[in-house]
Amino acid sequence: MKLIIDTDPGIDDAMAIAYAAAAPEIDLIGLTTIFGNTHVHQSSRNARYLLHRLGLDLPVAEGAHLPYGADTYQPSDFVHGPEGFGDLTDIPQIGANHDLSAAEYLAETARQHKGELVVCAIGPLTNIADAMRLDPEFAGNLKRLVIMGGAVYCPGNITAQAEANIYHDALAADEVFATPPETVLVGLDVTLKTLYAPGDFEALASISPDMGGFLRQISQFYLNFYKQAGGLDGCGLHDSTAVIACTHEPMFETVETGIRVDRHGDGMGATRPDTSRPPVRVCTGVDGAGVVRLFTDRVTTLR
Ligand code: BDR
Ligand code: CA
Repeated sequence: MKLIIDTDPGIDDAMAIAYAAAAPEIDLIGLTTIFGNTHVHQSSRNARYLLHRLGLDLPVAEGAHLPYGADTYQPSDFVHGPEGFGDLTDIPQIGANHDLSAAEYLAETARQHKGELVVCAIGPLTNIADAMRLDPEFAGNLKRLVIMGGAVYCPGNITAQAEANIYHDALAADEVFATPPETVLVGLDVTLKTLYAPGDFEALASISPDMGGFLRQISQFYLNFYKQAGGLDGCGLHDSTAVIACTHEPMFETVETGIRVDRHGDGMGATRPDTSRPPVRVCTGVDGAGVVRLFTDRVTTLR
């Protein structure tokens, strides 16, 4: 399956990209970057560094710097660290970004692989909305859009009602859900049922000292956040769960409903069922233990 990941690496983004690199069913063809856990230039640097460590020579197309309607952006450094990779701050610049912007690269690649390309968006949805604005055929050219975002039937994580990716550009997200491609929404409804515990990171690092060790190293900061903020002994495999949903649909239960996003106010970023909108498939159940096992099995094949 041909896959582009639209990402803001980010600790769980790094895990998702490592998973995609290891999964035999996935033909990872490029990354597009977005602000979110970091500023977009940090996301791009981190994405290129990760690909280098994974031994992959793939395009990284840089995307939006700011959410729609905003003139500043404050990254979630208290969750992912000052540079996006926890306590790791000395992250080298490897190579250069693609000449095309993320939206241009997404639109062109979807056209080139019409009906075959899956895009997995694991950051705010600005690049996806930009690609839809740029090319009216973009949505129809995709095989599927899989989004890590939203909290449809459960509480949010950045506010009481909103999940972080949707909250960080509620206007773009609402625009995507107004005329969505074929879409699967992998939100907190399922991603908080896929907790990766400190012991899982230890096992990962002992079998796969290089990539597993790297993921264990950057995850300490993230694990501390989960412990302090939510009293949880493990972190959500948010972004990896969305990548796994691209290829392992039977591991998920879904319902079909349209989605509307609160664009302003106290509920900004809330993802609400709205039957007047075109339906998307919202994940409501997951084989959480199976996702954790699959992640470890695949990522430990990387050395
Ligand atoms: C999402 O927000 C980011 O912090 C994570 O990388 C993930 O994509 C979870 O709400
Ligand atoms: Ca992310």
